[in-house]
Amino acid sequence: FGLGILLSSFLKEGGSIYYFYMTFGVIGGFGNNNDDLLCAGNKEDIQSYVEQIVKEAGTIILEAGENLGVEEKSSQHDLVTMYDKKVQEYLFNQLSREFPHASFLGEEGLESKGDGNGLFIIDPIDGTTNFVKGFRISVISVGYAEAGTMKYGVIYNPFSGELFSAEKGCGAFLNGKPIHVNEDAMEHAVICFGAAPYDPEKWDYTFSTARKVMEKCVDVRRLGSAAYDLVSVACGRAGAFFECKLRPWDYAAGLLIVEEAGGTVSDLDGKKITEIDRPSSMLAGNPKCYPEMLKIVKGLNKESTISVEGTVRLRESRNLKQA
Ligand code: IPD
Ligand code: CA
Ligand code: CA
Repeated sequence: FGLGILLSSFLKEGGSIYYFYMTFGVIGGFGNNNDDLLCAGNKEDIQSYVEQIVKEAGTIILEAGENLGVEEKSSQHDLVTMYDKKVQEYLFNQLSREFPHASFLGEEGLESKGDGNGLFIIDPIDGTTNFVKGFRISVISVGYAEAGTMKYGVIYNPFSGELFSAEKGCGAFLNGKPIHVNEDAMEHAVICFGAAPYDPEKWDYTFSTARKVMEKCVDVRRLGSAAYDLVSVACGRAGAFFECKLRPWDYAAGLLIVEEAGGTVSDLDGKKITEIDRPSSMLAGNPKCYPEMLKIVKGLNKESTISVEGTVRLRESRNLKQA
């Protein structure tokens, strides 16, 4: 099975001859534990290449000047800067050169169909509002899926130098060291949530749920980056995270990193997320907080009836099908 995935990665993604021989050498040298071989082999190719490219893209964010070129997208709550576009362009140019058969999906209008079954899902800056306001929690998120299953995920905060990564079946890491979800029960946990800023029909539910969660935990956090929320669960800072609506680029890499760190991820009805190229609600948590959180959020993710007229222009620019 492991060998099959390796070979299909190379053939479908056009992996270089160098990587092919690196991997083949690893298989030949270590014999019969396929899972370990899969991990050892892949660390030499897609994962390490993506990590290098993501770090390089991080310098674009760090070197941003005073004028960020801020524009509104769908509403006053939905900002984009010229650096979101620059980072996405850099990632696409570098990754598509190395993986010419892959498809790409990125927040800033990137949709490119390749002839393989590999898909890169990119959020060039997750936490754009944090970036605009100088909060220093803004990450680059790159996920890689094959046949609809997440295989690799990298999330990098250039401001802190923290690089979170995971490879399917091989665990999750922070700057190369293994990470795990924590064992906090709700009463000892900090719980993150996202405000679903682009979906005002979700705000009533979001904030009333956060109120209920607050009663059960130590404290709540709204950090401004869903990808960072997810890795905060993965590395044991937060016990759980929920948000009523995310897009694929917000969650693809983080979903895998949480699962590989021993956490559980689903939508707010407790259903596993199987269509990773679609918007979804999200609940992620450690083994103690996840079931407790699910009791609070399940089935309650209804759209509010409050009028949002005059507050938000609707999302014509969002081209994905609604969840
Ligand atoms: C947003 C952030 C935010 C979350 C939103 C996302 P962006 O992504 O992750 O924390 O609440 O749902 O859309 O626009 O900064 O890339
Ligand atoms: Ca995002
Ligand atoms: Ca973004």
